[in-house]
Amino acid sequence: MMMNGQDRHRQMTKSADGIASSSQAAGHSHGSFFGRRKGHKLRNHQTDLMEHLLPRLTLDLATADASAPASLFDAPVDEMRLEIGFGGGEHLVAEALAHPRTGFIGCEPYINGMAKILSLIEANNIANIRLFAGDAAELLDWARAGSFKRIDLIHPDPWPKRRHWKRRFVQDATIAQMSRVLDPAGEFRFVSDIDDYCSWTLMHMQRSNDFAWTAERADDWRKPWPHYTMTRYGRKAEREGRKAAYLIFKRTNA
Ligand SMILES: C[S@@+](CC[C@H](N)C(=O)[O-])C[C@H]1O[C@@H](n2cnc3c(N)ncnc32)[C@H](O)[C@@H]1O
Repeated sequence: MMMNGQDRHRQMTKSADGIASSSQAAGHSHGSFFGRRKGHKLRNHQTDLMEHLLPRLTLDLATADASAPASLFDAPVDEMRLEIGFGGGEHLVAEALAHPRTGFIGCEPYINGMAKILSLIEANNIANIRLFAGDAAELLDWARAGSFKRIDLIHPDPWPKRRHWKRRFVQDATIAQMSRVLDPAGEFRFVSDIDDYCSWTLMHMQRSNDFAWTAERADDWRKPWPHYTMTRYGRKAEREGRKAAYLIFKRTNA
């Protein structure tokens, strides 16, 4: 039986975890997501938003036209951006408000993060965000070459133990995919307060040969880029005395 986007969405939200990625639905093993999908119980209004607003904003990889991603939006957009693991959505929402002619795709498998951003989208009447409640690696597989002007990965799960490093989102394979889906003049922006993950990212990006790190002086990576919106994890790091690095890479393999 064929399922439309709403049916698929309903099936996802009814699954045991509350949200299931399409790789789980398809019976695949883990992709690039190893975190938890569900936290505390949602408030009534949040549940309502998950049931009624999320289906309208969901990017359904099974039905969306990857060759025309701008058609996801009702109003015309000049370019597309992607934020991976947006958490509570503070940064994504601020960027969407600041750039109304840019179409944003936000990717977050954590159901409570999804509920938070829906409240912000509703409160600010935002029309230029679409949401994918699954593993960003699947979204990268779906997207066509050159789709995005920028990809942001802000305070990704650090997986500090050596035996968990393979769970980090930044890997040779995901870098190759990000390079593919970025516009030839596109950028990948990475923020982390975990020194070891920053070195890991610099090392992997350098050996990919597809990107150049843009920093020319220490302040270029020690300070947030202009108009950066601090996230929940960024504030937590500051409170706990950890300084974040702000790394900007330009695609070079055009
Ligand atoms: C440490 S939190 C940071 C959240 C937010 N960016 C911030 O700075 O507050 C990392 C987030 O990435 C999400 N995440 C982890 N793996 C992911 C993946 N493969 N695709 C999309 N999101 C992912 C997690 O669910 C989590 O919400």
